[in-house]
Amino acid sequence: MEKILKIAVLAGDGIGPEVMDVGVNVLESVAEKCGFNLQLDHQLVGGAAIDAAGSPLPANTVKSCEQADAILFGSVGGPKWANLPPNDQPERGALLPLRKRFGLFANLRPSVCHQALTHASPVRPDLIPNGFDVLCVRELTGGLYFGEPKFRKVEESGDILAVDTMVYRKSEIVRIAHVGFKAAMTRDKRLTSVDKANVLENSILWRETVTEIAKEYPEVTVDHLYVDNAAMQLIRNAPGFDVLLTENLFGDILSDEMAMIAGSLGMLASASLGEAKGDGLYFGMYEPSGGSAPDLAGKGVANPIAQILSVALMLRFSFGEEDAAKMIENAVNQAISDGFRTGDIMTSEDGLKLVGTVEMGNAVIERL
Ligand SMILES: NC(=O)c1ccc[n+]([C@@H]2O[C@H](COP(=O)([O-])OP(=O)(O)OC[C@H]3O[C@@H](n4cnc5c(N)ncnc54)[C@H](O)[C@@H]3O)[C@@H](O)[C@H]2O)c1
Repeated sequence: MEKILKIAVLAGDGIGPEVMDVGVNVLESVAEKCGFNLQLDHQLVGGAAIDAAGSPLPANTVKSCEQADAILFGSVGGPKWANLPPNDQPERGALLPLRKRFGLFANLRPSVCHQALTHASPVRPDLIPNGFDVLCVRELTGGLYFGEPKFRKVEESGDILAVDTMVYRKSEIVRIAHVGFKAAMTRDKRLTSVDKANVLENSILWRETVTEIAKEYPEVTVDHLYVDNAAMQLIRNAPGFDVLLTENLFGDILSDEMAMIAGSLGMLASASLGEAKGDGLYFGMYEPSGGSAPDLAGKGVANPIAQILSVALMLRFSFGEEDAAKMIENAVNQAISDGFRTGDIMTSEDGLKLVGTVEMGNAVIERL
């Protein structure tokens, strides 16, 4: 029986639909070459779903995700919906509930700076002479984004109080720590755990727990950094890192920083995974790490590489199609080596070709 890959496709808002079209074209080309069939179910999410169905996460969309083996996601949000009540907005109303609903606690963000892109990085090229490859493992369903209580109220004095709560249970730290250490074992066997254990109670628990789990992975060299120091060290010496393990908020911020050091947010893919299933594969949601980039939307200039690389991560983690994943990653590297550049990674070196979203996608497809 031929293999069928069931995928819920949620393009979302802003540049989401533009980069998603390219991502799906790449996926379809690879499926044809590798001989698997696709069952793609396109559904609305975010602002587009608010406009069409009155909810950022309509029941049909959730049902489609439940019936799929993976979610391919674009991005949500934009100024049009920024003044809605917080829980009705695209991110809090769609993205966070999807992560929670499917137990997607492990967010993997591979930040790879291609050697040819060192000049697109805002850090001095001599600090990253050979590029770098850092994997950020971010806890995704705990911490400040989900902790209760979370509220806002007007106090008797008339002042306004807003409360978010940073909560971690040891079990949550244990499971993400294992993801980080297992990833390190497949890489350079170095792991940096990032916390704020000089100030925060749950960071103290984080550090104690990571230290405990480290004993199960004696081959991995571990160090611990406070998040403020980590933010600085990443700029100073990105190639010095291998796996970065951290909690939800710190990971959100540091991975964007990593993306920029690597050249552009438009290059950074992500995989959000739950527990491994019996067959060793994962239900996952795969998306560019950036947002809907309203400043670029509709212009055909957004970088589609993060979306394309998200397709590769999906094929690897949800479908076990390692060869197909590598085929995509190699084609992206080749397109970059051959000088194709969207505006965000364009530099003044000779021989580069400035291209739009669709042309970059075609350059990758031609190199599959
Ligand atoms: N996962 C998500 O869907 C997600 C994540 C972050 C932000 N958002 C939402 O996106 C909207 C815009 O947020 P923001 O401006 O803070 O962040 P953003 O990530 O959309 O944009 C930040 C900067 O990165 C650039 N950028 C992002 N993706 C790019 C790409 N593919 N190619 C080239 N440049 C790219 C943008 O042009 C902008 O200059 C907001 O509504 C926000 O809530 C959504």
